[in-house]
Amino acid sequence: MKSFPENFYWGAATASYQVEGGIENTDWAKAARDGRVPVCGLACDHYNRYEADFDLAEDLGHNAHRFSVEWARIEPEDGKFDESAIEHYRAVLQALRARNIEPFITLWHFTLPLWFSEKGGFERKDSPEIFARYCAYVVEKLGDLCNNFSTINEPSVYGSNGWLRGSWPPFKRFALTDMVSITNSGRTFESKANRGIKPLFTWSRVMKNLARANNAAYTSIKKIKPSSNINFVHHVIVFDSNWNPFNKLKAYVANAMWTHKFMKRTKGHYDSIGLNYYFYTQFGDKRKWRKTDMDWNFAPEHIYDALMMLKRYDKPIYISEAGLADATDANRAEYITGQVEGALRAMHDGVDIRSHIYWSLLDNYEWALGFEKRFGLIEVDYTTLERKIRPSAYVYKQIIEANGLIQ
Ligand code: BGC
Repeated sequence: MKSFPENFYWGAATASYQVEGGIENTDWAKAARDGRVPVCGLACDHYNRYEADFDLAEDLGHNAHRFSVEWARIEPEDGKFDESAIEHYRAVLQALRARNIEPFITLWHFTLPLWFSEKGGFERKDSPEIFARYCAYVVEKLGDLCNNFSTINEPSVYGSNGWLRGSWPPFKRFALTDMVSITNSGRTFESKANRGIKPLFTWSRVMKNLARANNAAYTSIKKIKPSSNINFVHHVIVFDSNWNPFNKLKAYVANAMWTHKFMKRTKGHYDSIGLNYYFYTQFGDKRKWRKTDMDWNFAPEHIYDALMMLKRYDKPIYISEAGLADATDANRAEYITGQVEGALRAMHDGVDIRSHIYWSLLDNYEWALGFEKRFGLIEVDYTTLERKIRPSAYVYKQIIEANGLIQ
């Protein structure tokens, strides 16, 4: 089987804070002002240039686009909503519709409004209700222009970076000893995180609250727009093992903790599943892997395993992100081809896949690593803000035209 069903969605994704620019009232902007993460500033100025960026996506054959709306723009103060932010996102949706590009909105992609983070964010018991109130407001206002809503992006990544590794706000680090440095994608830097055992317990509470937040948001959105397709976007790490039974047990536990636990906690509160795939790792592996610019194993075809892992939940799966950082663009086309191959194989083995959304449409702010890593199909010059389509984007276009592998 070399191609997907006819109504398959192909495109690329972005997230508000990573591309829009000019967002200053979030926990990340505050962390940048405090010198704990790189400054995001104007980013790609996508907030003002979305029309031109969507023209490029259209030229590249995309029929779908995933993006996030910025909570801090929409609800800049607790319970106070800003109509002008809604007007902006309505214009964004109309711009996509005008180009026959199906929108997929992520309601929350990592950054918190400052007022919410200062109140304790998802550590708070009432955070699910606060989050659901915001989600309901957005769907009420945008639901006539969009049918696909993801509540939360990557709960497991958010929780572990914020409360276990301490590399993202609120910088809490679970550590038995007073370690001074942490390694992030091959780079070691001093962790200014609050260290100790307590973050482990807080992390556990946050993970429960995130699941409750998804469930509360799902229930409120369904009341407003029963026909909408609602999911959360799960970052699935494929933990595999060699023959060793001890390693097999480790992989089983890691998959249960990282992927399946959240699925269980949200049971009955998603219509489909969003899959983000970046990592394949094998316990007991002696191979020397080829690496991406993030120093991650170059294993695009193992998206197959991630998809097979989610098959048991018996829901349509939207590949919502998958891709690599590759500044020279020497490996991107091969990587995308590998992903598509893996996805086709999973479809052949019974997984109901509805989309392939590459991360990312544009180069962007890669969180604690700043602007150096280049994930874009489109290169961004951060001095002139000029866009340049990378050659691999045309290979992706051919894949899209073939609706699968190029013959
Ligand atoms: C996130 C993106 C991020 C990408 C690459 C995903 O975990 O959703 O925001 O840029 O991976 O690291």
